[in-house]
Amino acid sequence: MSEPYILPRKGSIQDPLRIAVLISGGGSGLLALLNYQQSNPCAHITKLIISDNVNAGGLRYGEDFSIPVAAIPLPESKNNVEQRIMHENLIHDILLNSNIELVVLSGYMRILTPNFVCKWKGRLINIHPSLLPKYPGAHAHRDALADGAKITGCTVHLVDEGVDTGKIISQQEVPILEGDTIEKLQERVKKVEHQLYPKVLDIFCSQDS
Ligand code: GAR
Repeated sequence: MSEPYILPRKGSIQDPLRIAVLISGGGSGLLALLNYQQSNPCAHITKLIISDNVNAGGLRYGEDFSIPVAAIPLPESKNNVEQRIMHENLIHDILLNSNIELVVLSGYMRILTPNFVCKWKGRLINIHPSLLPKYPGAHAHRDALADGAKITGCTVHLVDEGVDTGKIISQQEVPILEGDTIEKLQERVKKVEHQLYPKVLDIFCSQDS
């Protein structure tokens, strides 16, 4: 039987849950979240931004919003498994040092090992650009177009040991239009993600644990 998903406590406007956002790229989802937190009283607050990519464009939002950032690239190692675990241990340490209560993946393009997932289970959440269980993995839009799908969307889900297999929290559909390319579809889905994720996080953080 799998373990229950439990947040450490219920967040509130007065005492929001401290979150870290993990990114790998441009960070448009991070920006949407930071704008939401700035303009709405809510049950979560971003206290740390982490990227595995030192050149991630989204890291600049740390300075814009006065939030600490940590760029943590993969450490040198000849052994791939060891390298991933060393990397995640660095991330884990900084999460603990910053008293992070919830880890929010927003365009973080690495698959986390069970070693990390089990430490954060129930406190580790992701947004994926498809209607899971359809099109898991790193190429959701390419796969949806190749499949001739007419509808795709995005999914907010808890992260478990599998690839995009954790418990689904919320989904929203997005139509696929005639002449869509990966880029056009990605932009349309991102607009929906930017509305959905901050609100779903708010509900998730305010729930009784
Ligand atoms: C978002 O569409 C997010 O759903 C996706 O990456 C994009 C990040 O964009 N995540 C995944 O594909 C995870 N497998 P951003 O860097 O502009 O926020």
